Amino acid sequence: MCGIIGILGRDAVSDRLVEGLRRLEYRGYDSAGVCTVHDGLLDRRRAEGKLDNLAKKLLADPLPGAIGIAHTRWATHGAPTEDNAHPHATEQVALVHNGIIENFKPLREALQARGRVFTSQTDTEVVAHLVSEKVEAGVDPVEAVRTSLKEIHGAFALAILFREHPDLLIGARLGSPLVVGYGENETYLGSDALALAPLTQKIAYLDEGDWVVITRDKVQIFDKDDQPVERPVTLSGVTGALIDKGNYRHFMLKEIFEQPVVVAQTLQSYLRPLEEQVALPDRDFDFSKISRVTIVACGTSFYAGMVAKYWFEQFARMPVDIDVASEFRYRAPVLDPGGLALFISQSGETADTLAALRHARAEGQTIAVVVNVPTSSMAREADLLLPTYAGPEIGVASTKAFTCQLAVLAALAANLARAKGRLSPDAEREIVKHLAEAPAAMNAALSHDSEIEALAPLIAPARDVLYLGRGPDYPMALEGALKLKEISYIHAEGYAAGEMKHGPIALIDDNVPVIVIAPSGPLFEKTVSNMQEVQARGGKVVLISDAEGIALAGEGCMATIEMPKVHPLIAPLVYAVPVQLLAYHVAVVKGTDVDQPRNLAKSVTVE
Ligand code: AGP
Repeated sequence: MCGIIGILGRDAVSDRLVEGLRRLEYRGYDSAGVCTVHDGLLDRRRAEGKLDNLAKKLLADPLPGAIGIAHTRWATHGAPTEDNAHPHATEQVALVHNGIIENFKPLREALQARGRVFTSQTDTEVVAHLVSEKVEAGVDPVEAVRTSLKEIHGAFALAILFREHPDLLIGARLGSPLVVGYGENETYLGSDALALAPLTQKIAYLDEGDWVVITRDKVQIFDKDDQPVERPVTLSGVTGALIDKGNYRHFMLKEIFEQPVVVAQTLQSYLRPLEEQVALPDRDFDFSKISRVTIVACGTSFYAGMVAKYWFEQFARMPVDIDVASEFRYRAPVLDPGGLALFISQSGETADTLAALRHARAEGQTIAVVVNVPTSSMAREADLLLPTYAGPEIGVASTKAFTCQLAVLAALAANLARAKGRLSPDAEREIVKHLAEAPAAMNAALSHDSEIEALAPLIAPARDVLYLGRGPDYPMALEGALKLKEISYIHAEGYAAGEMKHGPIALIDDNVPVIVIAPSGPLFEKTVSNMQEVQARGGKVVLISDAEGIALAGEGCMATIEMPKVHPLIAPLVYAVPVQLLAYHVAVVKGTDVDQPRNLAKSVTVE
């Protein structure tokens, strides 16, 4: 999964291509490259590592040309070296690719048998050779691309240049997103509207199987059957300004601190405080016939879904299934007619989740989507769109998108419960009241930042860290562990507190910090018993609880972090804050790349 951009422009394009890549770095940052056509040449600059390395190369050795393509890579096939960096090129053709060519092996072998020489280990290079072979044999470039697209299987978004056609840019997509941007006598291709934001807001989203031929006088889109089609041009509304870190050292820290504001912003669209009711943006959606909910998501979004399962069952008394998207399609899930399939995603482009969404639609489910990027594929494919208003999330580790997802899911649980006749006006009033308290409580949680920072050097040397929680705090334990491993590279696991004694307790010794998430309340005593089992075996406990919980169980802990006393409904929103801050400060102590940790990408657009 990578980011691609192409410009057929009026003047030099290479700086603008790199500027576009900056907006696409969330899709991968293993290597980057640019290619333009000028003076009868396909001319490339490529560099291993972050985009700045490419920018430096271009500064030392600028690239002229009014047509070009560019790429930022998250390695799938082949190490993140310069040779494997895109654009891949032959004498005649250069291209950039996002996705995976699943049949690249037989294609490569056949091409090699015909004498083609490969210079990378990527799956992508076969496409360059397929097209080039035809062009070299005298086939028209458009026809060469059209027929080559029939030979490749898998997922792709492609942008293709031709040495002998400096006014021709061809794009194609299947399974990976690609948009066409319309400028003043210029045309663009990009992985998303964000990449093109400084260039244009006039965007056409290509459909599955579409391909597009861009020349100086015309933009012609073809569908999967090669028939000319029109795709509506919409105004993206995406701002061209690059988001900056403000006074914060990292985007992640800024995003953690933004949470009270963005959660309040999100709740504004889901609560009617005067009427003391919850209300979804789409007020006409009929929930009364929904018999079952199937939640599907990945990573942090999946943990938000796990919390929601507790809420949907508790409030609406509805059967809820939940699955990680990468497993969902492949276990032949039994989906009753009348079911609601609920997909949760920050980016709205996660390939596993998108594929699961399409599977659920084919199985007759109504599709609801909780999503942060309003122009994303998932947002566009939803029957019921439930936006989060976290604003752009840049740090690879998801923070504010997660708590905004929780806010939306809590409102959705109340809505479902009301539609099912299981929520009295009094109970609804209570829910609205507690949700409205969440931003202030999150602010109070943030005020413990310096204590958590002081604790970080004690956790940073650990090789393993465990997180424990019960009920809705169990997914929070999983989320805490995910945050820590993503950005500090410390092995961390989250467990249901009661499950410890069934095996994981064998891991406990005095080198393993155990973070216990236990707000006082109905499950507190049980969690504390499990915590004591850990302490009895020498485990060093950090207890995250409120004053009451800490007074009852804080003694003997290595450290305690005090949260405000909150209603159990909003506890996951509040307790997200200390686990995020702990992961952040530990990563800073370890000196890792907090916003762009190794091996990861913000948006995972390959299966
Ligand atoms: C979270 O910190 C991760 N980087 C990752 O697990 C993420 O939540 C997952 O890839 C899902 O992404 P999405 O919400 O954009 O679909």
